[in-house]
Amino acid sequence: MHRGAKTGVMVVTVVGSQLGDEGKGGIVDRWSDAADIVVRYQGGDNAGHTVVHGDEEYTLSLVPSGAVRGKVGVLGNGCVVNPETLFSELDALAERGLDPEIRVARRAHVVFPYHRELDGIEERAKADREFEVGTTGKGIGPTYEDKAGRRGIRVGDLLDPDVLRDRLEYVVPQKRALAESVFDVETGDAFDIDRLYEEYRRYGERLREAEMTVDAGEFLAAERDAGKRILFEGAQGTMIDIDHGNYPYVTSSNPTAGGAPVGSGLGPGVVGNGEIVGVVKAYLTRVGTGPLPTELGGVAGQTPGYDGSEADPGTDAGTDTDAGADTDADTDADEEELATRIREAGGEYGTVTGRPRRVGWLDLPMLRHAARASSLTGLAINHVDTLAGLDSVKVCERYDLAGESVGTIPATTERWAACEPRYEEFDGWPDADWDAAIGAGYGALPAEARAYLEYVSDEVGVPIYAVGVGPDRAQTIVLEDPFDRDR
Ligand code: GDP
Ligand code: IMO
Ligand code: MG
Repeated sequence: MHRGAKTGVMVVTVVGSQLGDEGKGGIVDRWSDAADIVVRYQGGDNAGHTVVHGDEEYTLSLVPSGAVRGKVGVLGNGCVVNPETLFSELDALAERGLDPEIRVARRAHVVFPYHRELDGIEERAKADREFEVGTTGKGIGPTYEDKAGRRGIRVGDLLDPDVLRDRLEYVVPQKRALAESVFDVETGDAFDIDRLYEEYRRYGERLREAEMTVDAGEFLAAERDAGKRILFEGAQGTMIDIDHGNYPYVTSSNPTAGGAPVGSGLGPGVVGNGEIVGVVKAYLTRVGTGPLPTELGGVAGQTPGYDGSEADPGTDAGTDTDAGADTDADTDADEEELATRIREAGGEYGTVTGRPRRVGWLDLPMLRHAARASSLTGLAINHVDTLAGLDSVKVCERYDLAGESVGTIPATTERWAACEPRYEEFDGWPDADWDAAIGAGYGALPAEARAYLEYVSDEVGVPIYAVGVGPDRAQTIVLEDPFDRDR
């Protein structure tokens, strides 16, 4: 028994079950009320987590979402930290009257300007062969590359100017040579050792003066022993996990729950003894390239092989000479229209980059994969309101692949891209008075919506803990609060 222990679940991990942007920020905000500390364990400022409270909307890239409720936020060793983003986010929050307590792991790696430049340089080189990822351009991949290459610079190194200088003198000439000699790109300020040293030494001073750096594992273990409740906030999602996702169209970290122990310094037993909630969007969105078997329509520049010219709804409708028959052109136009409708209703534009998100039907093979990879104990299904008003709603139940029926995700991108979804079709549900439903609870949701949700939960074999019916903190119907469960 820990000193001052509360009863019930002490650790809850929230992960993205699809391709990011499932609404993790809102769910973390909702449940962080019961938590003392909110911990990011991977990723960096590629994340964009939205918290809505009444008229106030916060978009957070590095500061954990619990900060809006005044909870302690920790950036674990598995994160990559851009100090410029961190401090500008903290300054912006301070202007709005929030002064969150943030701790940063000394073992976390630092994103430098040359990482961001190299991110763009490599994406442009890949674009020539049409296999760019469509990254957020935040330098995430190049920073994790340097971490794995044992030439990265860590937060702890910023606190010691001599070490910082030594590390920069080793690594920057290599980066400059890579940009100039391999990619044939001129380099500037972002590769200037003196400038980088001065700027990053100052970030180190600010981190030290604010006493923000910690040994994350030690810090969290001590807090846990003191009976504090910990909420892990995953960024990104299962299908863009570097191991379990759709490689190479992935981010460079492990958003799945296994990333939480590695990226925080608390062991797998701690995370596994708690609850692990997979956040699900009631349909799918994806930003960036890579396959999406259930995609509706497409987004030029992101959907592979799509330039928007062949499936413009206006053009198709105008050239329809075979009235009454369901031609391919009609189907394309219908799908485009549906995608646009869902994108507009759900506000599906990237929080970080502003890009329109690609839209598709919910994909159960993906959720089965996520449930297994993260040992999900519960689901939080968001955006049920966004689908309201459609005549029917489809769910991909399995795939047909080379004459076989497949219920989970094939390991290679090419095989996943070749999957043909087999759909289950559900009656749509009407737009409802969602706020009334929140008060009355799950049973007050439209019956069609409940049928859909229960089918998903049964197929994935994981119970529903929460249903999102709007972006606001209050617009979540909670069936089970993970911190209140017996363990
Ligand atoms: P995250 O990256 O997983 O935290 O998700 P984002 O913040 O990038 O994107 C989710 C978007 O959907 C945000 O604008 C949220 O405010 C919004 N949102 C979350 N849950 C719901 C919901 O249940 N209904 C609606 N309409 N919007 C939601
Ligand atoms: P949150 O936490 C959605 C995507 C990018 C790109 C790929 C690699 O808000 O859910 P990166 O910049 O990480 O190297 O890009 O991953 N991506 C996200 N998509 N939500 C995110 O975060 C994402 N973070 C990265 O669009 O396809
Ligand atoms: Mg997001």
